[in-house]
Amino acid sequence: MGKQDVILSGKNILVTGSPGFIGANLVIRLLKELNGGMIISLDSMNDYYDPKLKEYRLSRINEIVPESKVKHIFIKEDISDKNAMDEVFSNYKPSIVVNLAAQAGVRYSIENPDAYINSNILGFYNILELCRRYPVEHLVYASSSSVYGGNKKVPFSIEDNVDHPVSLYAATKKSNELLAYSYSKLYNIPTTGLRFFTVYGPAGRPDMFYFSATEKLKRGEKIQIYNYGNCKRDFTYIDDIVEGIYRVMQKAPAGENEDDGTKSPTYSIYNIGGGNPENLLDFVDVLQKKLVEEEVLPKDYNFELHRELIGMQPGDVPTTFADTKSLETDFGFVPNVGIEIGLGKFAHWYREYYQ
Ligand SMILES: NC(=O)c1ccc[n+]([C@@H]2O[C@H](COP(=O)([O-])OP(=O)(O)OC[C@H]3O[C@@H](n4cnc5c(N)ncnc54)[C@H](O)[C@@H]3O)[C@@H](O)[C@H]2O)c1
Repeated sequence: MGKQDVILSGKNILVTGSPGFIGANLVIRLLKELNGGMIISLDSMNDYYDPKLKEYRLSRINEIVPESKVKHIFIKEDISDKNAMDEVFSNYKPSIVVNLAAQAGVRYSIENPDAYINSNILGFYNILELCRRYPVEHLVYASSSSVYGGNKKVPFSIEDNVDHPVSLYAATKKSNELLAYSYSKLYNIPTTGLRFFTVYGPAGRPDMFYFSATEKLKRGEKIQIYNYGNCKRDFTYIDDIVEGIYRVMQKAPAGENEDDGTKSPTYSIYNIGGGNPENLLDFVDVLQKKLVEEEVLPKDYNFELHRELIGMQPGDVPTTFADTKSLETDFGFVPNVGIEIGLGKFAHWYREYYQ
């Protein structure tokens, strides 16, 4: 796939889902790195998890704005509201759009499917339509490792068949890739989908295992470890995800000349994952160690009493493992932060934030 350099400084960049976990960290990076332009952060600030955490991330963004050469505005809006989103595109005419807004989480999609159809299908369709109406240089959007479903072949490659989603969440993310393909093909919109693999770090998502397990241990409750601990997850530290998005934003797929005289669609997909799957029980051991080191939990905490091994849950998959060769070839980057460092940073943040 040919690539076209996209300069980021001096442009209007729309980041949806900021101040979500990944979005806020990306915006902070952009505010630090870029030399002019404007970042438009947009989020519905829904209460899927404690909105105070989103307010906190927004305040961290706002702290950096005075030192930044980039302007920043925040718009509270829902991407599923087409008229409102049209106004945003028509007012700011973003050159680059990073769509991170979505209803995340696998388990919640079983109880609350509507949220996924509204945000991930209707909302994403609106983004595509508006990128058609107000042409952009590059649309980067969040897909997910969940599109690989119960894939047995490891590592998971972007060449693998991903037609067997095991949750509605996964199905919506795979649908995003299909919709993006058709818009790239029909209207030459350069799109890049990023399949993120279990992202963690400071001020992360409280619905994710490492965070909710920390809260449960703190309250003296038992943590539940699925599939009797026989799970492997390719955990990816937030800074690695941000580095990947930052690099990808700067090179849009250009499409290549095909033998029949047509151009291939301006469409790419990449995995961004640690590339080093951890056994869930080992991950829990490191988390516990870091929580003790950071004095979130006492040295004599009885971890054995506070863990319960249970079976597989609907929507879950036993293994995730990213093949990141194409990210390395095209962008010269492989995620490299391990869980010792990453969970240490999470535990440190947790202590500062909650205590
Ligand atoms: N964190 C991970 O491990 C992970 C893994 C794979 C994919 N992803 C994807 O990456 C993206 C960012 O994830 P995150 O972990 O930062 O999640 P997050 O929930 O912290 O951020 C998403 C943000 O989108 C906002 N949002 C949801 N629906 C919206 C709507 N209709 N309109 C406007 N805003 C809306 C939410 O309020 C939230 O702040 C999501 O698309 C998610 O599916 C995340």
